[in-house]
Amino acid sequence: QTIVAIVPAAGVGSRMQHNAPKQYIQLAGKTILEHTLTKLSQLPQLQTIVVALSDTDPYFDELPLTDARIVRSSGGKERADSVLNSLLFLAPNPPDWVLVHDAARPLVDLADIERLISECLSANEGGILATKVKDTIKRGDTHSKQTVPRDDLWQALTPQFFKYNELKDALQNALQSEVAITDEASAIEWVNKPVKLIAGRSDNIKITTPEDLALAGFLLNKQQN
Ligand code: CTP
Ligand code: MG
Repeated sequence: QTIVAIVPAAGVGSRMQHNAPKQYIQLAGKTILEHTLTKLSQLPQLQTIVVALSDTDPYFDELPLTDARIVRSSGGKERADSVLNSLLFLAPNPPDWVLVHDAARPLVDLADIERLISECLSANEGGILATKVKDTIKRGDTHSKQTVPRDDLWQALTPQFFKYNELKDALQNALQSEVAITDEASAIEWVNKPVKLIAGRSDNIKITTPEDLALAGFLLNKQQN
């Protein structure tokens, strides 16, 4: 079974309000994107690591990357377009499976990725890392109307691991239907295919706003020691 990683890194990071896209912020000695790629580079089962980037990204080619499996592809308007463009880039020589992982999640645990891959391969079903919701969840606008039972609520993380053909077809179908596609699993759900939930560490946060930086920097420093 051949596996390729896709790393969507074509976002502008508007919520971070930083001058460069957030994947190029320095934390614990290197950029967030380098931390993420260094993690994935430790997985020998990945044939290629495709990084989806904006065509006008001036930063990527300056990074001191050494893994020859890393290749650059064009991103798209939304995250789902970036992932689909990377899938189409791979179309001449498609892998059996793809592992999609956000550039903005450098804290992911390698053992969690290994478990996601092995459980999906043995079940022959796609799946995602996810973590059980811990907080009490309210529905409302200015006032709380309801407390949502959380026993079956999960927070979706990445990586998300699916068969190449299944994901490409699902994304194309979902993008045409204009349903909200915020992760790969939402496209797979849209075409009624299974998405296994694999419990992963909740500190695999997506660095999104300035208040995420201090915690991410602390955890990255700890992981490197
Ligand atoms: N991403 C992408 N292509 C896009 C939008 C996002 O490849 N058109 C990537 C981002 O670079 C990021 C991941 O998808 O690694 C998750 O998206 P998000 O956290 O929303 O990042 P941004 O879109 O950059 O941030 P924001 O939504 O705050 O602008
Ligand atoms: Mg975004």
